[in-house]
Amino acid sequence: MTNQAVQHTCVFGMGWGDEGKGKLVDLLSPAFQAVVRFNGGANAGHTVCVGQDKFALHLLPTGVLHDNAVGVIGPGVVVDPIGLLEEIDNLADRGVQVIPKLKISHRAHLVMPYHKAEDKLSETSATGTTRIGTTARGIGPCYADKMRRTTAIRFIDIINDPQIADRVRELAEKRSTALSAIYGDNGGLDIEAIVRDVLIAKERLSPIICDTTKFLYETMDAGQAILFEGANGMLLDVDHGTYPFVTSSATGPHGIGSGAGVPPASVSRYIGVIKAYSTRVGSGPFVTELKDDIGDRIRKQGNEFGTTTGRPRRCGWFDAIASRYARQVAGATDIAIMHLDTLSGFDQVGVCIAYRCDGQTLTTMPADAATLQRCEPVIEYRPGWHENLRSVRRYEDLPQTARNYVEHIETLVGAPVSILGVGPDRSQTLLRGDMKDCIDVPEPASL
Ligand code: GDP
Ligand code: IMO
Ligand code: MG
Repeated sequence: MTNQAVQHTCVFGMGWGDEGKGKLVDLLSPAFQAVVRFNGGANAGHTVCVGQDKFALHLLPTGVLHDNAVGVIGPGVVVDPIGLLEEIDNLADRGVQVIPKLKISHRAHLVMPYHKAEDKLSETSATGTTRIGTTARGIGPCYADKMRRTTAIRFIDIINDPQIADRVRELAEKRSTALSAIYGDNGGLDIEAIVRDVLIAKERLSPIICDTTKFLYETMDAGQAILFEGANGMLLDVDHGTYPFVTSSATGPHGIGSGAGVPPASVSRYIGVIKAYSTRVGSGPFVTELKDDIGDRIRKQGNEFGTTTGRPRRCGWFDAIASRYARQVAGATDIAIMHLDTLSGFDQVGVCIAYRCDGQTLTTMPADAATLQRCEPVIEYRPGWHENLRSVRRYEDLPQTARNYVEHIETLVGAPVSILGVGPDRSQTLLRGDMKDCIDVPEPASL
């Protein structure tokens, strides 16, 4: 994005995650001086494809792949420190040196092994209706400790508290006892290994743990542009998503204030990312899900398998009710539709324009998962296209039926579609309107 008047920008998911945020953040990063994660943790899996190279980022802001941008892990992120170090080391093995350009908020919370153990134990002991299908990365238990306050650990604690080893030991022992009492199993926790790992994290991460809020204010004061990288998606938002089948953080632009310490009003562009169809991993209502050959075909054509867990993603037609709702709550100024190429080869493509539930027609999102579970989609079919779109580079060169489909989604969702994905590579991106003046889409295979 060219930096005419500095425009702080947010990229966020408008679905149930995995919309293609990583690809877009990577494309935008060269024009920003800081790329900031403000929510979630290692439940995220953001993929970047550059030619034959593929990177999957979980805790690191995608911008760290670019030399110009400082990567910031904000106060609202929950960080598994050992997972983060592994991610940093894996990138170093591939020639990307992260440490000099990464900052971690001293206010951010640590995901501890007992959070991950609890996440796994509570999921495996749950029955069908109470199993969320989490990523088992300890996200919910860590945010629960954060809200409980007295049992949480922040990065500032591992720096400032001279008794941190004793505190960690005490918290881990108590949690181990509690897990054994509830589940008959402590999830294999090794208390001394937990203490040791916190001390390793302290030693290796201390140089980059800092007041990121101050850093972001200085960045803004210097007239530099900041890109906020949302994790997960609006339909997984803890307040606005398909509760309780959600994650535990504020996943959209509303999370920037709490999760980065920057007022959302300073951000002028909010790019909501959706796919040309719908996907979901984990449990929970999914009105347009296709449990048939068409769903299997979308999964195969779109390679719809989770970046973090490898689980097959559930697939279905585009849900305009859910996407419009997400757009309204988030206040998206722009929409990016990814995976338009994946729908090639269908004679007809479906769009859900209403829900039928208990004899009524609904055009807004019910708040109750049980009601959503009973909804049937009202699908409108539009003519499809058979051309392979992956080498198309201008919107005007798309088949007319594909353009009609995009413009129909634009009308139903209610914000301009300014970016389109026609393949996983960053070069496979089409721009519309003023986005053409803002983003430079590179030639294939350049980093
Ligand atoms: P994120 O979590 O939103 O960053 O998305 P993920 O990386 O988990 O999943 C998106 C997947 O779709 C990744 O494998 C991307 O490489 C891929 N992808 C992104 N945009 C496109 C696109 O326009 N077309 C195709 N075919 N793949 C895409
Ligand atoms: P990105 O950033 C897809 C889903 C999980 C589960 C629910 C709760 O890659 O888009 P959690 O582990 O957060 O407690 O799981 O949320 N989920 C995601 N699904 N993409 C993600 O992130 C997700 N983050 C969480 O599958 O249904
Ligand atoms: Mg993902």
